[in-house]
Amino acid sequence: MIKSIFKDMTQSNFESGVSESKEGLPAHIAIIMDGNGRWAESKSLKRIQGHQAGVESIREVVTASCDLGIQYLTLYAFSTENWQRPKLEIDVLMHLLSDYLDKELKTLTKNNVRFQVIGRIHTLPKEIQKKIAFNVKETENNTGLTLTLALSYSSRCEIVDAMKDLALKVKDGILSPEDINEEVIQQHLYTKDMPDPDFLIRTSGEMRVSNFLLWQLSYTEIFVTDVFWPDFRKQNFLNAIQSFQKRERRFGRTNFSN
Ligand code: IPE
Ligand code: IPE
Ligand code: MG
Repeated sequence: MIKSIFKDMTQSNFESGVSESKEGLPAHIAIIMDGNGRWAESKSLKRIQGHQAGVESIREVVTASCDLGIQYLTLYAFSTENWQRPKLEIDVLMHLLSDYLDKELKTLTKNNVRFQVIGRIHTLPKEIQKKIAFNVKETENNTGLTLTLALSYSSRCEIVDAMKDLALKVKDGILSPEDINEEVIQQHLYTKDMPDPDFLIRTSGEMRVSNFLLWQLSYTEIFVTDVFWPDFRKQNFLNAIQSFQKRERRFGRTNFSN
């Protein structure tokens, strides 16, 4: 199945080099989708138009992930800090999100995608919360790609929320402090049901993680491209994965096979 998909891609615009084995693929890809504003600026357009164009990149990357058989794709769509942007820009982003949730469900279902979100979802507009809940429910039994949108997300907030949960459990005598270890902490993060990302892509050149998955990125391979998010399409995504496949992940050892 995977093999034949790769064959199709080789015939179309997939310029080979990516190994035809599922083992070489990252199970979990996380993306900081950055540069919508600069993309618009470079074309003398409004920032809003950059965000609109960015939605198409999301569609391409989600579809390509499904075709490749990627298991988890986590997209940083709106950070806690992004609430400090001008109201008009926030309104547009919320409108685009609402539209995406309405329009995309059909395609997600067709592609067997399980849709979920991480972040302080209760801080989003009520109407969006309802649409999210609907899409999550509708796709919960799908077995293909798990697509996670990070919305009103901040990794430090996530860690604070986890620490509060743990503190309450200790207070209530459900958990003893000696039993707190990395696994217990991981189980209290928003991402508790996901493996850590193998691969982080950041578009538009910034060399920072901007409060994204700080715990989970401990041993993630990082790929930064100067390409602005609205220009980051299927071929850019495939090229990035190709670069991942050339990495040697050592996890602190001298050589992973040792
Ligand atoms: C990413 O693009 C979208 C969000 C953060 C919501 P930006 O809007 O940050 O674009 P730049 O970084 O200003 O170019
Ligand atoms: C990171 O981009 C957040 C998202 C992509 C949603 P930002 O544009 O908000 O990050 P900074 O401000 O450049 O660090
Ligand atoms: Mg930005």
